[in-house]
Amino acid sequence: MSAPGKADAIARANIALAKYWGKSDDRLNLPAVPSLSITLDPMRTETRVELDERLDADVFELDGKVALPKETARVTAMLDRVRAESGIAAKARVTSRNHFPTASGLASSASGFAALAAAARAAYGLTRDDAKASAMARRASASAARSIYGGFVELPAGEPGDDALAAIPRHDASHWDLRVVVGVITEGRKDVGSREGMGHSRETSPYWRAWVESAPAMCGVIREAIAARDYERLGPVVEQSFTTMHALAFTSSPSTMYFQPASIAALQTVKQLRDRGVPVWPTMDAGPHVKAVCPGEAAAQVEQALAATPGVLRVLHARPGAGVEVG
Ligand code: PMV
Repeated sequence: MSAPGKADAIARANIALAKYWGKSDDRLNLPAVPSLSITLDPMRTETRVELDERLDADVFELDGKVALPKETARVTAMLDRVRAESGIAAKARVTSRNHFPTASGLASSASGFAALAAAARAAYGLTRDDAKASAMARRASASAARSIYGGFVELPAGEPGDDALAAIPRHDASHWDLRVVVGVITEGRKDVGSREGMGHSRETSPYWRAWVESAPAMCGVIREAIAARDYERLGPVVEQSFTTMHALAFTSSPSTMYFQPASIAALQTVKQLRDRGVPVWPTMDAGPHVKAVCPGEAAAQVEQALAATPGVLRVLHARPGAGVEVG
């Protein structure tokens, strides 16, 4: 097979409304629970993959600098799978750039691995197949499987051994003008990573079984509420999905607490807004930032209130965005 040898892709970050936390298969990186997210603009990663016969190892440059060996190893692991599928052995030069507002509190790994999967498959001459790209992105970071698609995207739970597990696009970005207003709370060091945190939770939290049993129903309500654009039904379950996930982390041994004092303050701001009739509910990931989910017409008020909350360094505003673009 002859490959074009070079391809570019753009993918966007996503925020889970129904959280993924914990794996059913560590080797294949399969989630133990279903999750559902919104793909977000304007948080984008742009990635170029260029085959180079002269290289004896892949070269990975991230945001203008040669990446760390452990980052390059994750890129090579994905490229090895693309090489196996395409039958082309050449190594590649990978250049990736994150167009994220500084310290956005939104992880770039989802957009990064989604862009890499799509660009690598095209550069090695594989026919575009978003389900395969999504499954490939999932092996690197499960949330990345969702960033292949735009709008509202579900990643089902995986049966151990099911390496084809891919995300499912539910509705495109124009379906519902929901906004995510992020209260950025720290620029500091990285917290306990999601992979490590999830491992602790499965092994030690007494709530693990309850989480695996209750998460599918929460995801189901979120799926239905999104389909019906029913914010009143959506909001409380979005909150419960993240609080249940954080309860797992908190009750693990050793305990992981992603909250900082300013996270609590921001959660109180969101609650006070709601008490005044503003439709807004919070979610949080494996970090202290508070992400307020609201309909478009409430976003300006939410931004203002979060920006005025002590400990919130800045706010940023995201909206549903498109799936991966390959050029
Ligand atoms: O796929 P990972 O390893 O980045 O884990 C994502 C975990 C959460 O962000 C906390 C939840 C989610 O579903 O995105």
